[in-house]
Amino acid sequence: MIGFLCRGGFEGVVSGELARAGAREDRSLARAGLAVAEVAEGIARPDPAFASQSLPSIERVEGESVAALARGVIAATREKLDASEGAWVQHVLVTEAEGSRSLASRAGLLGRTLDGLLKEGLRRASKRRVSWETLAPGDAAHVFQVALTRRDEVFCSFAKREPLASGFLEPSLAPLGRWPVAACREAPSSAFRKVEEAYVLLGREPKENESVCDLGAAPGGWSFSALRRGARVTAVDRAELLPPVRGHERLSHLKKDAFSWEPEERLDWLLCDAIAAPEKTISLLDRWLERDWCRRFVVNVKFKGNESYGAVEKLRAVLSRRGVVRARVKQLGSDKNEVTCLGHRSS
Ligand SMILES: C[S@@+](CC[C@H](N)C(=O)[O-])C[C@H]1O[C@@H](n2cnc3c(N)ncnc32)[C@H](O)[C@@H]1O
Repeated sequence: MIGFLCRGGFEGVVSGELARAGAREDRSLARAGLAVAEVAEGIARPDPAFASQSLPSIERVEGESVAALARGVIAATREKLDASEGAWVQHVLVTEAEGSRSLASRAGLLGRTLDGLLKEGLRRASKRRVSWETLAPGDAAHVFQVALTRRDEVFCSFAKREPLASGFLEPSLAPLGRWPVAACREAPSSAFRKVEEAYVLLGREPKENESVCDLGAAPGGWSFSALRRGARVTAVDRAELLPPVRGHERLSHLKKDAFSWEPEERLDWLLCDAIAAPEKTISLLDRWLERDWCRRFVVNVKFKGNESYGAVEKLRAVLSRRGVVRARVKQLGSDKNEVTCLGHRSS
């Protein structure tokens, strides 16, 4: 059984994605911000766009007190912890659902109680524990997760990071799968956070002198993210850009339509955050992939209400039709009612 954490309110969307991926959800274990499913052998491990984190070999533990919960968690994971090799990280947390926050202090207490039990009874394993912030997103490690869903119930998982069919490792090393993005006062917009998060997930960011086009660029947050790494940027947007992007020596601003503009040569990066209906953005990506116009891409797809989430499957179909294996579709921590599609066209 694998658990999938998501934002509160998106459980039904994740259920639909799991069903389409061939996984069998156990509805009796469904909680706010959590879906649990069985994935039969031979079926690729699902990577739902609206799930931020996975908990492989998930187990449910009940207990009236924090001490009882902690003992239950240790009993459920002791063998795996003991038998594991190498570094592991630990997250004791609550889901991102409404009402969960009231459990945050209990999760803190549970974490400290677990620390005590680990040091007492699992000394050898304890010594291999590291802080997740010391690791890079692509590092090998085990991830120990304990998610409090009620005051007397937790779900736990201790699992080695394994590659998905796309090659990306799961579970994420970050708590809830959310990589924090440092604020930057110089960035012309907070949308900048989305692309920064996408670079972390992709394991690659624009490099000095790489060519980047930013479609729907204004006021310039995504262009800023590429410029500050030394890339050359073509920003396409009829709206104005803001400083420090406007007038930057490595930036050219074209006041044109992002959906019909064509590059003169193959580019290192396609970035697209243009506001458009999902189908329009998906056909833009399809055309770029078909013509092989970019090596890597970060494309944000925006939804209106909850009626068009089926577009995620259309996006996956495009990736598969164009032979892009190293790609993911994710609702990032900084995404609103959006998903971001990121991938490598070639290595
Ligand atoms: C969400 S904003 C982009 C924010 C930007 N990524 C940033 O970090 O500052 C969307 C932009 O898409 C642009 N846009 C919408 N339709 C467009 C089109 N057909 N061609 C070019 N730009 C378009 C809008 O003018 C707007 O500036």
